[in-house]
Amino acid sequence: MDYLQAGGPTLLGSNYEPVNQKVWEVVKESGPVTGLFHPYEMKLAEKIHECMPWVEMYRCLASGTEADMVAIRIARTYTGKQRIVKVGGAYHGWSDQLVYSLHIPYTKTFEAHGIPKEVSENTSEFFPGDVAGLRKVLEENEKAGGTAAVIIEPFGPESGTRPVAKDFAAKVRELCDEFHTLLIFDEVVTAFRVGPGGAQGYFNVKPDLTVFGKIVAGGYPMAGGVGGSEEIMSCIAAGVKAGKKKAYVGGTLTANPLSCAAGYFAIDEIIRQDAAMKAGENGDKLCDGIQKLIDKYELPFVTWNTGSIVHFEVSGVMYLSAADPDVFKKIPERQQYIEEFGAALTANGVITLAGSRIYTSMADNDETIAETLNAFEEVFSNIER
Ligand SMILES: Cc1ncc(COP(=O)(O)O)c(C=O)c1O
Repeated sequence: MDYLQAGGPTLLGSNYEPVNQKVWEVVKESGPVTGLFHPYEMKLAEKIHECMPWVEMYRCLASGTEADMVAIRIARTYTGKQRIVKVGGAYHGWSDQLVYSLHIPYTKTFEAHGIPKEVSENTSEFFPGDVAGLRKVLEENEKAGGTAAVIIEPFGPESGTRPVAKDFAAKVRELCDEFHTLLIFDEVVTAFRVGPGGAQGYFNVKPDLTVFGKIVAGGYPMAGGVGGSEEIMSCIAAGVKAGKKKAYVGGTLTANPLSCAAGYFAIDEIIRQDAAMKAGENGDKLCDGIQKLIDKYELPFVTWNTGSIVHFEVSGVMYLSAADPDVFKKIPERQQYIEEFGAALTANGVITLAGSRIYTSMADNDETIAETLNAFEEVFSNIER
């Protein structure tokens, strides 16, 4: 039972044949790559625009990591400011500047070895959901030339592992306007998964730039992209082009026919099949079932979901505070609990994201959910209290 679902993109289910067929037709005709533009690049961009009208222009890239890198580069070019603000603990790919304070807020360069210290000098953070804290950071940054962008996942960092208030994204938007800072939504997981309009449609909050990943190639390789208004996106340039400020972006294999066709057909099918709704209902059922088992076995665990993104916490490793002097001792211990829990689920046939997250898909059904809950029960009933 695969609930990792490649980290989220396969909302239609694993290896979805109707999309595979269509992708194969395109590859048979064009080959997997040409290095030129391809009609499916345009079709994919138009499809994304149809779902998220604030994405007026779209640039294909190779991964979510690249798309996050490009988004902050565009923000700096457009605003002429240097500083970037992220949520402490958030994951926005593994690029030099964004691996700062990964997973646990204010752990700074704990997971950023092999990177020169000065690379993090322009990155600041605030606690998840802490709007007043963000204001303070933005005020502080004003003294150092201002903030180019605030980057958030609108449902909270790590796909909502640390949930935020419903008006969080709107409040961040207001602050960005006040401080003339661009707002970047990282929708690598939420785009199309929480509904056709992504998190921006759900909250009805306009980002200046949207970052896409995995799902824009339907789970096929070379999956990433960034989009926004024509004015802001026009900062991107590749090749030799004099006369204006440009954010340099490249990538030989980006926008290849295979990835673009796969993304186009997958998103088209997700919308036609109402896959986000179906996967979300499966997430609700699974979460309800896990909660009943937590109650039955009186375990100190927590579960909640945002539709098809189901969370469960057994050791709270991501909730430790960097202010705790023993934090670096506690991390490996808590990490071990969660790894053992994830391994026990795997041994019972259920693959999750690191023992703490489940991505449901349209392909789950009452039978597979019942089977999954049996596996959870088997693990829960064997936990020593
Ligand atoms: C919110 C978020 N941003 C960025 C990334 C990085 O994407 P990629 O793995 O395609 O580089 C991920 C990956 O899981 C993610 O969850």
